Amino acid sequence: MSAVKKIAVLTSGGDSQGMNAAVRAVVRSALYRGLEVFGVQRGYQGLLNEDLRQMDLRSVGDIIQRGGTILQTARCKEFLTPEGQQRGAEVLRKHGIDGLVVIGGDGSYQGANKLSKLGIKTMGLPGTIDNDIPFTDFTIGFDTAVSIVVDAINKLRDTMTSHERSSVVEVMGRHCGDIALYAGLASGAESILVPEVPFDIREISQRMKENFQNGKRHSIVLVAEGVGRGEDIARDITAHSGIEPRVTVLGHIQRGGAPTHNDRVLASQLGDFAVQKLEEGDSAKACGILRGELVTTDIDKVVSTKKAFNMDLYNLAIRLAQ
Ligand code: ADP
Ligand code: F6P
Repeated sequence: MSAVKKIAVLTSGGDSQGMNAAVRAVVRSALYRGLEVFGVQRGYQGLLNEDLRQMDLRSVGDIIQRGGTILQTARCKEFLTPEGQQRGAEVLRKHGIDGLVVIGGDGSYQGANKLSKLGIKTMGLPGTIDNDIPFTDFTIGFDTAVSIVVDAINKLRDTMTSHERSSVVEVMGRHCGDIALYAGLASGAESILVPEVPFDIREISQRMKENFQNGKRHSIVLVAEGVGRGEDIARDITAHSGIEPRVTVLGHIQRGGAPTHNDRVLASQLGDFAVQKLEEGDSAKACGILRGELVTTDIDKVVSTKKAFNMDLYNLAIRLAQ
């Protein structure tokens, strides 16, 4: 006997590649289990506007390979208020919906938590390129974003090597350095500046100068946006070494394009898992994957915990990029 009969799914906050694959998994898994399923357009904003439609098998066809989200996404100020949250719960109840899957980052999770306190069963799926959600090794979209950064650095290296130049590359991640860390290790970046690790720009500039004199005539300095602007880092490097790095800000390109197979597989697993947990009567949980195992964690705990930074991986990246 299922604890829910009708569920809904929405995407919220910044989009990420693989959100469509997650929506597809939620819809098809719900239908497979004999549940009715609704898609909410534009996140919590669409919920307040009662912008919902019933989903069928065909409504999620041909989307597993697409970036963005067919449900679209939004940031909704009204939903931050108790009145907005109350109205959101009322809209769901009016449509007979007793379970909601929220695909988004930690802000979206907090919204789901509030709805659960108002009697709606909720499950959060980690949809963000930032990989900043604890209790999951990876978030949906992170793998694709890292691949985009690695591809960009490969291209930059070609021209930087020809000209014996250095490059500062600024990447996204909000307060989390994971995109810079993984892309830096995978592309052999000489310096990786992340908010989790203090650094001395004088030392970095000096090392770049020495490297240049010793025959290593180009280098990549990867800067996570949580550290500051790439332009400012480049200016400091010039001030301390005389080297004039070219600056590339990758920006929203990191959030688009076809999801990698890793993101599609993760999204499919987590989407199905979230529906299974709702059916079992679970609520106010975030779904994740830890060492290959699907897990749920209380949303309260997830939003009050900072994701641990992988210092071993960071030290490895620095050791190998001599
Ligand atoms: P993300 O989910 O990517 O972290 P945001 O922080 O912008 O993105 O959150 C997305 C939306 O979730 C917000 O626009 C708001 O509607 C809702 N939200 C965020 N924080 C809360 C909160 N504390 N309580 C209720 N809803 C929230
Ligand atoms: O959370 C995803 C993210 O792309 C962050 O990496 C970045 O800081 C932020 O969203 C950008 O937000 P916006 O799309 O509103 O410019």
